[in-house]
Amino acid sequence: MSYKVAVLPGDGIGPEVMDSALEVLARVEEKFGFKLELTKALIGGSAYDETGSPLPDATKKVCEEADAVLLGSIGGPKWDGLPPELTPELGGLLALRKMLKLYANLRPAVIYEELKAMSPLSEKVLSEKVDLLTVRELAHGIYFGEPKELTDDMGLDTMVYTKEQVQRIAKQGFEAAQRRGKKLCSVDKANVLSSSKLWRKVVTEMAADYPDVELSHMYVDNAAMQLMLNPLQFDVIVTSNLFGDILSDESAAICGSLGMLPSASLGEKISLFEPSGGSAPDIAGKGIANPIAQILSLAMMLEISFDLKDAASAIRNAVDGCVKSGIRTGDITDPGMTPVSTKEMTEAIISRI
Ligand code: IPM
Ligand code: MN
Repeated sequence: MSYKVAVLPGDGIGPEVMDSALEVLARVEEKFGFKLELTKALIGGSAYDETGSPLPDATKKVCEEADAVLLGSIGGPKWDGLPPELTPELGGLLALRKMLKLYANLRPAVIYEELKAMSPLSEKVLSEKVDLLTVRELAHGIYFGEPKELTDDMGLDTMVYTKEQVQRIAKQGFEAAQRRGKKLCSVDKANVLSSSKLWRKVVTEMAADYPDVELSHMYVDNAAMQLMLNPLQFDVIVTSNLFGDILSDESAAICGSLGMLPSASLGEKISLFEPSGGSAPDIAGKGIANPIAQILSLAMMLEISFDLKDAASAIRNAVDGCVKSGIRTGDITDPGMTPVSTKEMTEAIISRI
């Protein structure tokens, strides 16, 4: 049986780094003897330019018929002035998340030993390797809550969580902790928000089912601070949509470059995989973007959606090998080092598989 993948390169550096990921895919297909059926489709600003919609019907169809979606990145200053429903962010990515009912966003933040100097945090704080995972609720909360309204003199968003929605994301958090370091920190604002009070109650009740996981709770303002002061205390963070959006960017920043971090968004049937970083319009088209986040997103897809664990580990090991050998794109080079291009990095990874 062959699996179908919707390939959505998107905007900015998306198409360049997607090409890299597809070359890596071809290499692991050959090595491990499988073949995915790929269908490319438009999304974001480039889709708007070509069709007038950031999520054209043809793209929806390709995604609905796929077993997984591999996405590049969307957005750029060119499309910032559009009405909200036509922007790459709201009309493209958020609409696709909603359509596929993507409810859990897994964002690992790992700092490579060799890249510690890239982190804005001091060596003192980074005495060990940062390796944390944010499990962000993606389908509900203030992003989607109703009523939602915007007039000339009033803007309204609604933060709402039901017990069932919290249970579903917390289960992902507990299970991720079981697979990893057995520590789960649930982040909320339960000293103020009703949705957070419910969140904390539900997560606390569930802890009895996961006796091997050590559960803690933290207010989001404190969590933002603790990530800076002592990121090593975290293993898995589970949190709501907006808090997860903010904290996952913060954890990514600790790692030095957004160009290294993949993400997975789990749906009921179809999951989506994309780099944690954005479309980097400032360097788009120059052939210098770091393709690692896209390539590691491919690895997450192979493992999570298709259970191709060997192929996924081969990709991760090849990436580790490149980082260890000092092969660096511009975002992760030290002064005095010569950065490699997107193409050179891709070839170096492929040669190690
Ligand atoms: C992200 C992005 C999106 C979000 C934007 C582009 C809508 O920041 O994936 O984190 O806020 O979820
Ligand atoms: Mn974000």
